[in-house]
Amino acid sequence: MWVLAVVWFSGVLIRAEAQGTASFWRGNDRSGRCQYSFTVDSPTEASCPLPGSSPEVEALKSRLALLEVLVAHLAGGETGPGPAPRLQEAYTQALSEKTQLQREKDRLGQRVEELQRRVEELQQEAERLRSRPCAQPPPPSTPLYDNRPSPAGGSGGTALSHLSSRPGRTPGDTSSLRDPSWHSGSPGYQELKAEVAKIPAPSPEDADDTKGCGELLSVGEPFTHRKTDTISGKYGVWMQDPEAVSPYGPGMVWRIDTVGNEVRQIFGYEDLQQLSRGFPTKVLLLPEAVESTGAAMFRGSLYYQRRRSRTLLRYDLASESVAARRDLPHAGFHGQFPYSWGGYTDIDFAVDEQGLWVIYSTNKARGAIVISLLDHHNLEVKRSWETNIRKTTVANAFMICGRLYTVASYSSLNTTVNYSFDTATGVSKAVAIPFKNRHRYNSMIDYNPGQRKLFAWDNHHLVSYDVRLGKPQ
Ligand SMILES: *[C@@H]1O[C@H](CO)[C@@H](O)[C@H](O)[C@H]1NC(C)=O
Ligand SMILES: *[C@@H]1O[C@H](CO)[C@@H](O)[C@H](O)[C@H]1NC(C)=O
Repeated sequence: MWVLAVVWFSGVLIRAEAQGTASFWRGNDRSGRCQYSFTVDSPTEASCPLPGSSPEVEALKSRLALLEVLVAHLAGGETGPGPAPRLQEAYTQALSEKTQLQREKDRLGQRVEELQRRVEELQQEAERLRSRPCAQPPPPSTPLYDNRPSPAGGSGGTALSHLSSRPGRTPGDTSSLRDPSWHSGSPGYQELKAEVAKIPAPSPEDADDTKGCGELLSVGEPFTHRKTDTISGKYGVWMQDPEAVSPYGPGMVWRIDTVGNEVRQIFGYEDLQQLSRGFPTKVLLLPEAVESTGAAMFRGSLYYQRRRSRTLLRYDLASESVAARRDLPHAGFHGQFPYSWGGYTDIDFAVDEQGLWVIYSTNKARGAIVISLLDHHNLEVKRSWETNIRKTTVANAFMICGRLYTVASYSSLNTTVNYSFDTATGVSKAVAIPFKNRHRYNSMIDYNPGQRKLFAWDNHHLVSYDVRLGKPQ
């Protein structure tokens, strides 16, 4: 403000000197009051007492001096501690604090960038390890990679699954998961082959049974393919498609961990060896959540019950989309007619030599097991049978060659398949075929007509049983 005043004042001064005739000016005096001055040339120049010391110039000089003093006061700061200097001080301090904060912010920004780079590096490292699983053991000094899948089983499957399903990868893209080095015959791979060779080959006796259908004669010992070790692996469903369709081969193994509310992930493994080692080659996110352990795989589609509904879904694996949906008429669901272990196992798909079935119950059947043969393409019920065994009293059920079989207990080490129902004749009968729940919590039992095996999920263990079919004596 004072600077402006000085400039204005100088302007007036210059104007006054330049005009030389008459002038008028106006300005504040020291007390701030407005002061008006008129200046008129005297008639005779010579009458001025001294050149350069006209009253007007004298007045201007005195005013300039006055201003100089004021400006000096303001600029010099030798006046007492008025409010202006204190404000100035605070302002300066705030400025320096702001600069400091800005520097701190820049430093933190750099740190964030550094960490992001590190995360990317680690992700690349994980990808590299995954794509070269047999190359060499990880250096012992890197515990970070200890969750790398190991042949003996471990948390690897889960860790890897999370990696595989992270955003950015399109559902169909498994290129980085499939690595030719798998089949390179490296020493590590040879070791792996030696290990998987322990899986028992089917006995000649069983081989004979692969021709034609028959009644269930016996169930072998359970063989464990994989043990899960997270809480979400307590129960679930695992499957192989008995009539696999491109792009997946017959060896492809599928697995759904069904613990939890929103079960939508399905893991695919190229074969049993990779299942046991915990290397999924495919992770699919289903569009609608899965209920319980009743799902089945058949002719390139996953069949499952939509959560909290009697809606059956056919999820086509090739197009990765729902290809058919239909409500199963009158079927109980979500705890109305489950198997004896519970788990909302009301609706259970089954596949056998005759096609796709569904095992469930209705109010009309008063809880007795109902079996329906489905059109596997559009899920329409082709034909239904009502049995005389209560669904909630049996541990599980499966179909073989058009016959329903039920298991008495899901938790006894030694239990039996104690009931069968033949859809061809409508005749049911009691049987007593020994069956083992080695891990005492069997949540899923399904027959696979392609393998002629029962697949089961027994308390974290993904197991299979050989079966013998034939004519009972
Ligand atoms: C089979 O076992 C279940 C469970 O123990 C039992 O409720 C049922 O009566 C048995 N069925 C036959 C036909 O023995
Ligand atoms: C189960 O059956 C096996 C024979 O198959 C027998 O050796 C074992 O003692 C039985 N276990 C129990 C708990 O009954």
